[in-house]
Amino acid sequence: MNKDSAIFVAGARGLVGSAIVRRLQASGYTNVLYPSRQELDLSDADQVKKYFEGMKPEYVFIAAAKVGGILANNTQPVEFLLENLKIQNTLIPISYECGVKKLLFLGSTCIYPKFCEQPIKESALLSGPLEPTNEAYAIAKIAGIKLCQAYKKEYGFNAICAQPTNLYGPNDNFSSTGSHVIPGLMRRIMEAKEAKLEKIACWGTGTPTREFLFVDDLADACIFLMDSYDGIDIVNVGTGDEISIADLTKLICEQVGWEGEIEWDTSKPDGTPRKVCDISKLKSLGWNPKVDLAKGIELTLSWFKEHQNSIRT
Ligand SMILES: NC(=O)c1ccc[n+]([C@@H]2O[C@H](COP(=O)([O-])OP(=O)(O)OC[C@H]3O[C@@H](n4cnc5c(N)ncnc54)[C@H](OP(=O)(O)O)[C@@H]3O)[C@@H](O)[C@H]2O)c1
Repeated sequence: MNKDSAIFVAGARGLVGSAIVRRLQASGYTNVLYPSRQELDLSDADQVKKYFEGMKPEYVFIAAAKVGGILANNTQPVEFLLENLKIQNTLIPISYECGVKKLLFLGSTCIYPKFCEQPIKESALLSGPLEPTNEAYAIAKIAGIKLCQAYKKEYGFNAICAQPTNLYGPNDNFSSTGSHVIPGLMRRIMEAKEAKLEKIACWGTGTPTREFLFVDDLADACIFLMDSYDGIDIVNVGTGDEISIADLTKLICEQVGWEGEIEWDTSKPDGTPRKVCDISKLKSLGWNPKVDLAKGIELTLSWFKEHQNSIRT
């Protein structure tokens, strides 16, 4: 990408899209296009075609999707499947037809089988059954990956696919129904502190381990891949490090400054015991994460405190 290339970021009001825009602008890219959903509905092919014909983007990052936690995924499979298919089936073909030079499609590590070998290698894709609670979302993402690979194979369109691990950071979804683990815990622990509670309950045993990547590191990796990777194979983006949910909760309690007790509700499910990516492929390309978990949580918490009254619901 040149500093004056026309770069389109889909989903720029979200966690990932906003980080990509922030990173591009901070690096001196001057022609970043990032319309809101109100300005451009990405599931509407006519609107998208007109926009692309007019603005002529050269590079496209697809960070728009219907994204949610376990509850939303499990209760709205129709919307997770249809909305994600619509967005990617609109953006990928129109990018090709309108002469985009290169496209990066964001999947997720949810695409991997529920019981695959840990750390998860890219080769685990389609090697076993998916986690049932987010199957609809994962199938839409796998279809997006396969569409990018098909365009590359059949028409030589330079569409690449990155699979981020669990993300967190500024602009995350802190709502009580749609949040992921870090913003969800942060909000509950902040509320416990404000209400002077002595105890809160958390789901499961706290023993499962998970991997978390600060979203600005993901944005950096996306720009790195856009600049330096043209392969057809998917690439994991993570840290390769894992932490137990109990230790993560302790870290957030310390940073929030709440000294109450966590009661682990062992009648609730734990989910898979361990989930961490193998990031050797990305490392071998020359990229490494920069922000450690403690620093990332500190930055996210400070963003949340500043925006507590205007977070999305
Ligand atoms: N968050 C994670 O932990 C995580 C982990 C792995 C992979 N990913 C992937 O990263 C990508 C972005 O996720 P995210 O966490 O940034 O999600 P997010 O915060 O919910 O952002 C998604 C964005 O897409 C926009 N969008 C959805 N439907 C649209 C439509 N029809 N037209 C226009 N805009 C639309 C949303 O617009 P509104 O603001 O108007 O709703 C929002 O800005 C997704 O592909 C996701 O699978 C995320």
